[in-house]
Amino acid sequence: MLNFDFYNPTRIIFGKDRLDGIDKYVPADATVLITYGGGSAKRSGLIDKVKTVLGNRKVYEFGGIEPNPRYETLVKAVGIVRNEKIDFLLAVGGGSVIDGTKFIALASCYDGDSRDLLKYGLAPIPFDVIGKAVPFGTVLTLPATGSEMNNGAVISYGHGKYPVMSELVFPKFSILDPTLTFTLPKMQVANGVIDAFVHTTEQYLTYPVDGKVQDRMAEGILQTLIEISETTVAEPENYDARANHVWSATLALNGLIGAGVPQDWATHMIGHELTALFGIDHGQTLAIVLPALLEVRREQKRAKLLQYAERVWHIESGSEEEKIDLAIQKTREFFEGLGVKTYLSQYGVGADKIPVIVEQLKAHGMTALSETQDLTLDIIQKILERAM
Ligand code: NZQ
Ligand code: ZN
Repeated sequence: MLNFDFYNPTRIIFGKDRLDGIDKYVPADATVLITYGGGSAKRSGLIDKVKTVLGNRKVYEFGGIEPNPRYETLVKAVGIVRNEKIDFLLAVGGGSVIDGTKFIALASCYDGDSRDLLKYGLAPIPFDVIGKAVPFGTVLTLPATGSEMNNGAVISYGHGKYPVMSELVFPKFSILDPTLTFTLPKMQVANGVIDAFVHTTEQYLTYPVDGKVQDRMAEGILQTLIEISETTVAEPENYDARANHVWSATLALNGLIGAGVPQDWATHMIGHELTALFGIDHGQTLAIVLPALLEVRREQKRAKLLQYAERVWHIESGSEEEKIDLAIQKTREFFEGLGVKTYLSQYGVGADKIPVIVEQLKAHGMTALSETQDLTLDIIQKILERAM
């Protein structure tokens, strides 16, 4: 097992009717900015309920944080935080609203041009660059990203999606009430299953380091997602299926399964370019890239792919090659069974766009990806050709 530090201070408040946690954990004298997205939380009445729970606190609202939250939108909220002396943020929404709120929390405490905060990639922003952030909590409405219990955000600017990492942006608390996700469109539920699944594979399908507990936890999350996926998509109000979906998604990216093991993240970095260039949903980009990446990287990932075949998909017979082939095929069929297409051409993107995608990866410094940093642009080109 590799050396690791594990730190996660986010309080999780899980279950039905838990909004009272807001009153308990938002300071009584706080001036609060509620942040939300394109309106789903307004229409469902959730924002009104949150305001009721906030009681006599002074409350402002900032709506309109779009999917794949944009820098230009978020800086408007920074203005409100400064002018109104906001001292607590409350994000009500999915990964985009939570990520956007993390950026607002940091940028509000940064004196320079806040675009500076976009240039650190997957490395944490050093404390001498930024030493504090506005504290915030979240009310999660979409199970997918794990942003409700981690220290990362992904911010869109120009034609790029930029990871922003800082331990200053762990939420103080997150309310995880599965019933708040019942209003999701089926496609977002499917995207959420796939996002959680691929977060897990990014930290599991690498090379063995004898991280037995991490492997078993990762396999538990993958198997749970496979088990509940059909029900959580087909039966939006099935509480038990959705509760397992929500908790799996949180556990997939709260640092626990990735501690002490190698991590890949190439599927995500390639996927981010597909969203930035063609507007394809985050979960869909992962469904396109992962099967193709596993095919191209089968030698580097051989040992873990065999473990994945045997323990997750219960493939007992056949040669090693056959087991790996079948595991990749089952992964692709799993995504497609949720109604998500797994080839780029099915999203109207032709092979003529491959050079553009590769160029963007180069422009964003994504030239040495994967758990061993040996995933170069020529190999990515092969992955994209396979994904067509
Ligand atoms: O904006 P509203 O009107 O709220 O509608 C949203 C949005 O259109 C809708 N929605 C959310 N909750 C709903 C609902 N509709 C009905 N009922 C509800 N209860 O769903 C749509 C998508 O929302 P979004 O927040 O964009 O989705 P998701 O949670 O999948 O977040 C995706 C973003 O997270 C980033 C992605 O790159 C992308 O920008 N990621 C963040 C990560 C992190 N912070 O750790 C890791 C991930 O890998 C990912 O990259
Ligand atoms: Zn993701």
